[in-house]
Amino acid sequence: MSKRTKWDTKGDLDESKNLPIYQHKATLQQAVKDNSFLVVTGETGSGKTTQLPQYLHQAGFWSNGKIGITQPRRVAAITVAQRVSQEMHCSLGREVGYQVRFDDCTTQDTVVKYMTDGCLLREILADPVLSQYSVVILDEAHERSLNTDILLGLLKQTLSSPDKASKGRSVPLKVVVMSATLETDKLSVFLGGCPVFTIPGRTFPVTSKFSCAIGPKDTESSVYIKEVVKVALDVHTSEMAGDILVFLTGQSEIEKACDMLYEKAESIDYRYDVQDHKVEGLLILPLYGSMPTDQQKQIFQPPPPGIRKCVVATNIAATSLTINGIKYIVDSGFVKQLNHNSRVGMDILEVVPISKSEALQRAGRAGRTSAGKCFRIYSPAFWEKCMPEYTVPEIQRTSLTAVILTLKCLGVHDVIRFPYLDRPEERFILEALKQLYQCDAIDRRGKVTRLGELMVEFPLPPGLTRALLQAASLGCEDLLLPVAAMLSVENIFIRPGHPEKQKEADKKHRQLGVQAGSCNDFTMLLSVFEKCKASDAPSAWCKDNYIHWRALKSAFSVETQLREILLRLQKRDFPMEKFDGNKSELFRRCLCTGYFTNVARRSVGKVFCTMDGHGSMVHIHPSSTLFDQEAQLDWVIFHDLLVTSRIYIRTVCPIRYDWVKDLLPKLHEVDVYELSSVAREEVTDEEVAKWMTKETAKRQTEGSAEAVF
Ligand code: CDP
Ligand code: MG
Repeated sequence: MSKRTKWDTKGDLDESKNLPIYQHKATLQQAVKDNSFLVVTGETGSGKTTQLPQYLHQAGFWSNGKIGITQPRRVAAITVAQRVSQEMHCSLGREVGYQVRFDDCTTQDTVVKYMTDGCLLREILADPVLSQYSVVILDEAHERSLNTDILLGLLKQTLSSPDKASKGRSVPLKVVVMSATLETDKLSVFLGGCPVFTIPGRTFPVTSKFSCAIGPKDTESSVYIKEVVKVALDVHTSEMAGDILVFLTGQSEIEKACDMLYEKAESIDYRYDVQDHKVEGLLILPLYGSMPTDQQKQIFQPPPPGIRKCVVATNIAATSLTINGIKYIVDSGFVKQLNHNSRVGMDILEVVPISKSEALQRAGRAGRTSAGKCFRIYSPAFWEKCMPEYTVPEIQRTSLTAVILTLKCLGVHDVIRFPYLDRPEERFILEALKQLYQCDAIDRRGKVTRLGELMVEFPLPPGLTRALLQAASLGCEDLLLPVAAMLSVENIFIRPGHPEKQKEADKKHRQLGVQAGSCNDFTMLLSVFEKCKASDAPSAWCKDNYIHWRALKSAFSVETQLREILLRLQKRDFPMEKFDGNKSELFRRCLCTGYFTNVARRSVGKVFCTMDGHGSMVHIHPSSTLFDQEAQLDWVIFHDLLVTSRIYIRTVCPIRYDWVKDLLPKLHEVDVYELSSVAREEVTDEEVAKWMTKETAKRQTEGSAEAVF
């Protein structure tokens, strides 16, 4: 028997008294009272995330303001808030709530607020001393997410300058930094030598076994998916009772693995095949970021008697979420990670081998309540040759454009000497400054422009924001808002695994593309959005057209929220411009304003060449409406890249060279080394003139291509 259905079991909420942190409640409450900064560390699962905020609530901190807890991952913020609201016997959104990008589940009553680190960063923009909070807890600091690292630097700066810190506050803010294990001394030194509170952990031994299935060259997803499924089933049939946690890379791999597991588990004969006769079934549960929260809740519930639970998860289950009862780990050895790809000059989500420290963390999840076993599907040679010692902090491997703009808007002019826990390479900072300059968010002196101040309000990538603002200035935001929303949610197009269904889905999607009139991937998004919105039975419409109704519903909500931000900004002095041209051209020209950094021109056959100085050779992704029509195209813009053995461009739109002609020189006119001096100090006009190329000077004297901003 295998099972995927829901069942009801009440979690034992009283178990919180058994968590390692419980014995230290009073000491922790006192330590937060006594210190402005405190580092708290303890094994994953010791109760830091769910309990400490409640202890501080009980100690009365809420009377001076909210208790805010940040998480690098949105799923963690949501599920933990759910759990804590249960433990505190209140409905979610009342005393305990959460806020993640585009989803605010808090009310005026909320005093314990879980949120993503990105949300707190946005709040700091509006209120630099966080006057609404009495305590801010930066959780999962060991994850070293970009936003948490920036928050650390900002809070250090604010609290270490008493003038700044007390302005607008009645009582001083308390900051607690929580970390699973790593680098607590480093954190303490960074925060001025603050105390470190260690929650003594109980862990049980975990034996780890390597296998020879995955060697240094096996990065093909189908290989490791097959292997984890095989190993998980072996564990299920041959090991004693205890739940299994499989670590995989992302949603589609997890869904594939779950389908395979489900199919194979169906044919198990429990009389003969399974060694432990107390085990009578396998319950298969996926766990990844974008799945519905009611499904995520099931993960934490104990399985019915006799049933073994098998959770197939992304890295989220490594430290952010603790699932009780796990005794066996199946580790694929891979993770999906956003990395700056210097070959193409953009951030790209790639599947890479995990670090050795990450592998140890994964294995450790099996030893929380008793001795466990970890099955690594990779060989010792893979461990030696492919896995780095530690995971590189996000700040040192991804684009800094959005955070640098945030810092600049917060008045941090010198973004190079900002207190970073680990300094990003200077070239990454310069790259961000260059991009901000290119989209007119900062001026030649590195100061935030009026447009930059508007841009920072949108939780979107800078290029997309730029296009949206351009559309708004031309009075056609209705074209861009839905597109921005659709690009902010998970993929809306369903592609079933079954080949026949796949063909049908592709056909339906193509039809939607044709109906969209001027056919490109952006208008396709717009058309799906509008058609579904106009439909009397939107969920049936989605089903019929192989569209994710849940994703589209979130896109509707995101569009409303983006519209609200825009309306707020339009009440200020918002620049307007006139345009006389047809609607399709208007739409595409607005896109060009934001995406001129992502321009490619067809070189030969189906190959395009990017124009950003990297000159990468790229192909249109098969999911595009323009796939197979390459011969009719010349210039295109695209939303993002996918790197496999080839480099693919996705969400593509044909344009005319004329529309980007004036913008393209901007890609080459900035000398990043000169910009570094701009980042450090105020420069004179003569200095600026020195590093502006002749091209710019010419453009300026001609006064061409002056945007309204
Ligand atoms: O933060 P830390 O890793 O120290 O522990 P935690 O996340 O506070 O977890 C404490 C306990 O709460 C664990 O036993 C989790 O399994 C449980 N928990 C849960 O049952 N449901 C959640 N949504 C979150 C945590
Ligand atoms: Mg935690």
